[in-house]
Amino acid sequence: MKQVILTGDRPTGRLHVGHYVGSLKRRVDLQNSGKYDEIYIMVADAQALTDNAEHPEKVRQNIMQVALDYLACGIDPEKSTIFIQSMVPELTELTFYYMNLVTVARVQRNPTVKAEIKMRNFEASIPVGFFCYPISQAADITAFKATEVPVGEDQMPMIEQCKEIVHKFNSVYGETLVDPKIVLPDNEACLRLPGTDGKAKMSKSLGNCIYLSEDPADIKKKVMSMYTDPNHIRVEDPGQIEGNSVFTYLDAFSKPEYFEEFLPDYSGMDELKEHYTRGGLGDVKVKKFLNNVLQAELAPIRERRQMWEKRPQDVYDILKSGSEVARAKAAETLADVRRAMKIDYFENDNLFK
Ligand code: TRP
Repeated sequence: MKQVILTGDRPTGRLHVGHYVGSLKRRVDLQNSGKYDEIYIMVADAQALTDNAEHPEKVRQNIMQVALDYLACGIDPEKSTIFIQSMVPELTELTFYYMNLVTVARVQRNPTVKAEIKMRNFEASIPVGFFCYPISQAADITAFKATEVPVGEDQMPMIEQCKEIVHKFNSVYGETLVDPKIVLPDNEACLRLPGTDGKAKMSKSLGNCIYLSEDPADIKKKVMSMYTDPNHIRVEDPGQIEGNSVFTYLDAFSKPEYFEEFLPDYSGMDELKEHYTRGGLGDVKVKKFLNNVLQAELAPIRERRQMWEKRPQDVYDILKSGSEVARAKAAETLADVRRAMKIDYFENDNLFK
C-alpha cells in the first residue's frame, strides 16, 4: 500500500512555536525521510470558515501567511503538495455522504468540539457547519487515502472519529476507504506546549504565543517575561519545574549542542533542572538560555520566510498547482465512494440496474 500523509491547519492566523513542535517539525522530518509516496499539506480554509462565516477576508489573508509558514519551516513544494481546502470541492461532497454515518450524539461527545464550543460561547447557537467539521475532516483525510496524519494532540478525537467513519463506511458499502494512523510528537513537552503566560494552550486571543515569524527583539521580550514558578522569588529559593513554562519550552527545544554553545557550565537539562529545584539558579539565567535557544531555532525559519515573502507569485503558483493535484486525487476517491455506494448512475447504465 502507498504511504500517504495528509495534514493541515486552519488559516486564522500565523503559525506559532506550538504548531512547530506539535506538528510542523515532524512533518518536515517525515517529508525528508523519503518514506512517503505522497504528502498533502492542506490550508483548511473551509474549516476556518465554520466559525468565521462573517470574516472570509480574515481567512483569505491568512491563507498566504500559513503557506509562508509552511515553506519557512521546510515544507518543500517539490516533495509535498500544498493546497487550499475549498479549491477541492470533492471534499464537500464526501462530507455530505459521511454525515449519514455519524450520529448527532457522537459529534456532541467529541471533546475537542466540546471545548471549542465552550471557548467560543457557542453553547446556545452552534453553527451546523462548525458542529460537523469533524466529519469534513474525515473527508479531508480519506479523500487522499492518507495512511498517516501528523497533528497535535488536540486533533486526536478527530482522527478517532475519522477511523469510525472509515470502519462504518467499509462495513456498509464494502472495503473502500483507508484507515489512517495518527502521528503525535514523541516528546511530552512538544505535545502540549503552554502559552508564555503558563496557560494550557497557546492562542492568538490570549496573546500568549511566540510566532514563527516573530522578530528577534520580540522573541526576547516574550521569553524574558515568561511565566515560571511564582514561588521562586529569590535566587536561593528552591524552584519548581512542573508547570514552569520556561522549562517546558527548554524540554521542547533544547539540544546538547545548545548547552555547549550557550551554557557550558551545565552538562544538560538534568543538571539544570536539578540546580533549579535545589535553589541557587535564577530565572533570568534560565530565560537567557531559552532566548538563545529559540533565537537559534527560529532564525533559519524567519530567514526562509523572508525569502519566500519576496516571491508572492511563486507561493501563489505553488498553491494553485498544488490544489489542482489535490483535486485530481480527491476526485479518484470520490469516484470510488460513489461506486461503492452505487450512486454512480451514469456509469455503465447503472441507473437501470
Ligand atoms: N483541524 C485542524 C486544525 O485545527 C485542521 C485540519 C482540517 C486538519 N482538516 C484536517 C488536520 C485533516 C489534519 C487532517 O488546525
